Amino acid sequence: MDARTLKPLRGAVIGCGFFGRNHIQGWREVAGAEIVAVCDQDPARAKAWGTEFGAVPYSDAAEMLRRESLDFVDIITQPETHRPLVELCARAGKHVICQKPMAFHLDDARAMVAACDAAGVRFMVHENFRWQLPNRVLREESRRLGSPVFGRVAWWTGFDIYTNQPYLLEQPRLVIMDMGVHILDLARFFFGEFTQLYCQVGRLEPRAKGEDVALILLKAESGATCSVELSYGSRITPDPFPETLVRLESPGASVELRPVRRITVDTAETLRGFEVELPAYAWADPRFLTVQDSVVRIQQHWVECLREGREPETSGRDNLKTLELVHAAYRSAESGEVVKL
Ligand SMILES: NC(=O)c1ccc[n+]([C@@H]2O[C@H](COP(=O)([O-])OP(=O)(O)OC[C@H]3O[C@@H](n4cnc5c(N)ncnc54)[C@H](O)[C@@H]3O)[C@@H](O)[C@H]2O)c1
Repeated sequence: MDARTLKPLRGAVIGCGFFGRNHIQGWREVAGAEIVAVCDQDPARAKAWGTEFGAVPYSDAAEMLRRESLDFVDIITQPETHRPLVELCARAGKHVICQKPMAFHLDDARAMVAACDAAGVRFMVHENFRWQLPNRVLREESRRLGSPVFGRVAWWTGFDIYTNQPYLLEQPRLVIMDMGVHILDLARFFFGEFTQLYCQVGRLEPRAKGEDVALILLKAESGATCSVELSYGSRITPDPFPETLVRLESPGASVELRPVRRITVDTAETLRGFEVELPAYAWADPRFLTVQDSVVRIQQHWVECLREGREPETSGRDNLKTLELVHAAYRSAESGEVVKL
């Protein structure tokens, strides 16, 4: 890639499934990039997306990499396929984006980062929750009041996630691996790095093999304390899905994010509330706009990083720290002990 040219970067998508649809629609909103090829091991899916989105379809990623002239690849497949696909792209010299969780196992995730470093390609994990505009606005508001010293970052829902993602019911590690990875990343985004955590897990949904509720208590390097609360099985009316609930406190002041995209700033001088507004997209579902808009934002960030030759905010290297928190939470839940990080 020539960082000085303004020709659109040429990208390919691997994984034409449930969440991949948000990616391919998102790419059409992004300035400076175009998706020229799509790949799915199911040839019918690849062909359908090739027709719908005007891209060359492939059912084999290696063949696509051989035939197409690409600047980057965007991988939206199941976690167990992330390492082989990222390594394949790195060997082909392509910059690469990969969905969360980067991998189920830390060794695989570290190997992915090393492979991209060795090949000299950029590697970003598509960790989109910190790109949700309400979370970015909330952090700015909070920083104006000083660093937060106490708070909670919570994801509570009973929304039926299993119809679109039936594979989740089978995963032995469920809500921390699938959603905690986002919410722990948000906790890092708001509080910085952590020094210790304690975690307890439980289950509300009898069909699930893994834990679907978890409580995690964290201590930050700054001395701040926060909780990360996770539930996939709660009955709540109206259900907050897919909005995150956040409360950040500093001495004498607090900021809070509540559904839908509503921020409250509470200080001795003022009590101020406002709604964070998002652009409308023809393809987006208004119920899921916070998430869909964040996909466009992280994709735009990726294009800017490639053009300017800088490390993405959620680079593989950065995201290893989030994945380490996920694994520490499971270790704590299994041992019943506080885990030092
Ligand atoms: N960031 C978010 O908000 C968010 C939300 C949902 C899912 N996800 C993540 O997105 C990823 C995909 O989840 P999904 O629900 O879309 O899964 P999915 O099963 O619906 O889609 C995955 C697709 O990848 C294809 N595939 C698998 N291996 C392949 C290979 N080697 N080569 C080519 N194609 C291959 C499958 O055939 C399938 O079509 C997961 O990592 C999941 O955690 C992220």
